[in-house]
Amino acid sequence: MTGQPPSPADHIVILTGAGVSAESGLGTFRDKGGLWEEYPVEQVATPEGFAADPALVQRFYNMRRAHAAEAQPNDAHHALALLQRDHPGRVTLITQNVDALHEAAGSDPVIHMHGALAGALCATCDHRWSAPQEMRAGEVCPACAAPTARPDIVWFGEMPYHMEEIIGALSQATLFAAIGTSGQVYPAAGFVQIAAEAGAHCVEINLDASATVSDFDTAIRGPATETVPAWVDGLLG
Ligand code: APR
Repeated sequence: MTGQPPSPADHIVILTGAGVSAESGLGTFRDKGGLWEEYPVEQVATPEGFAADPALVQRFYNMRRAHAAEAQPNDAHHALALLQRDHPGRVTLITQNVDALHEAAGSDPVIHMHGALAGALCATCDHRWSAPQEMRAGEVCPACAAPTARPDIVWFGEMPYHMEEIIGALSQATLFAAIGTSGQVYPAAGFVQIAAEAGAHCVEINLDASATVSDFDTAIRGPATETVPAWVDGLLG
């Protein structure tokens, strides 16, 4: 699509990951010094870990919620919001991130397939509400009064959110871009294949080659705050 004027027929589907928020000061998961190096994933990001030590899990997400609250959107978030606003066709923005930096940059809508730090979920009745800045173990659900409130985050072994809508968008995509994601976590890592089968041109925009780099048509390397604004400029013409 680059080099041609943007067309209302172009449906751009974008998947973002932790790399897009890295330059806003939020750590990634699998880079050197990433979150999963310091916190064992099975303890803080699985239903079993939560059952074993809910206080530890709540502390982990309280810490991440506090960091995310201090972070500001960067030039990559702003460029994607501009693309969503000014592209004459559809732009579907899917994120694996649980921060709200796409929204803070003005993106709307944003599909949070792995949930959001801002949300609380009752493990008993599935009621959802806004999470307080600090959640405690045994926090009570305002709907059913069970002491089973948890962060509204999709943990390993759980089904990501909005999959029907996402698959629908991918199967109509003409351009697919994966930005700042290592391609190691499914189903998100498989989106490129669905988009490619639908005939979309697939672009990887990442610091390093992802695990699924061979499924993409093009790769753009560099920090997201530089590569994403340049890519969006090229698309909008
Ligand atoms: N600009 C562009 N890319 C970057 C930058 C940057 N400034 N910094 C890091 N990256 C890239 C890294 O090269 C890496 O490939 O971002 C990617 C981050 O990968 P991960 O840490 O694995 O994050 P992500 O792919 O979003 O993880 C997916 O895994 O643990 C789960 O639920 C969690 O949503 C998360 C999912």
